[in-house]
Amino acid sequence: MKKLIALILSVMMLATVFAGCIQEEAGPGENKYNLTTVKEGYLTVLTSPDYAPYEFYALDADGNPTLAGFDMALAQYIADYLGLTLEVVPMDFKGIPDEMGNGKGDIALAGLSPDPDRLLKMDFSDIYYDGKQAFVTTKDKKAQFTDLASTNDSKFQIAAQSGTIQEDLAKEYSPNAQYTALTKATDIIAELVSSKIDGAYIEWDVAVAYQANYPDLEILCEVPYEAEGNVIGVSKGNADLLKYVNEALNKCVDDGEFAKFVAKALEQAAGDKFEGILDPDGNVPTDPAGE
Ligand code: ARG
Repeated sequence: MKKLIALILSVMMLATVFAGCIQEEAGPGENKYNLTTVKEGYLTVLTSPDYAPYEFYALDADGNPTLAGFDMALAQYIADYLGLTLEVVPMDFKGIPDEMGNGKGDIALAGLSPDPDRLLKMDFSDIYYDGKQAFVTTKDKKAQFTDLASTNDSKFQIAAQSGTIQEDLAKEYSPNAQYTALTKATDIIAELVSSKIDGAYIEWDVAVAYQANYPDLEILCEVPYEAEGNVIGVSKGNADLLKYVNEALNKCVDDGEFAKFVAKALEQAAGDKFEGILDPDGNVPTDPAGE
């Protein structure tokens, strides 16, 4: 009898070990609402992880970069709500609307403003976060500017991230300045702190997040923008997906979960961040020239 119990126990233990393995493999999810997605059973999320506290690579205690930020926590929440396995595809922000239009993503979570021009390529969820826009410079350059109007001068070199609404703001408020489009939001920070540019248009909360690591950054003023707030881009015409994404999103906000994601993201954003492109294995490149 004792032998039988021992046998049953060891079989049960083995089963637990196998169950653990299966879970780690992350196959397709149960797809609770029978949604049509890019890859069956998966939620494919496009993002541009250069944008703390929205999405960025936080370095863990061992220096390994891990996707962090409240958009990424929200992506996981939505995937869990829908019973889908999360698959995040990092890319440059500029490529996101086209990739959504080409059917490469189910949703885009990238601190996306509801710019009506993008409606050709994606649908928008409800607003989930109220962002505002800023003009940013550095402490040593601050005295050159008085207000937003003073940025409109050909002696200034001004930047924004390619493909963003901040590019439109630069053209609207500083049309006479010399303009540079930069691929990543983190390039803007790097060029500001190394004095290659005089100022830039960037989102307020993003500027605040990078100030934690670069105290020389200075927010000059708020920049008016009519389509305030952030939305999730949803695969164009996928009405069921849009409905359940909104349901998940609103539950996340109403239950106070989203506020916790924001608090955690702000905490992580104040720690070490990795700002380059990872190698194909997802590691920080060892060869600096390859960054
Ligand atoms: N909110 C701006 C826009 O939608 C900028 C977003 C940039 N996002 C990013 N992950 N870099 O155009």
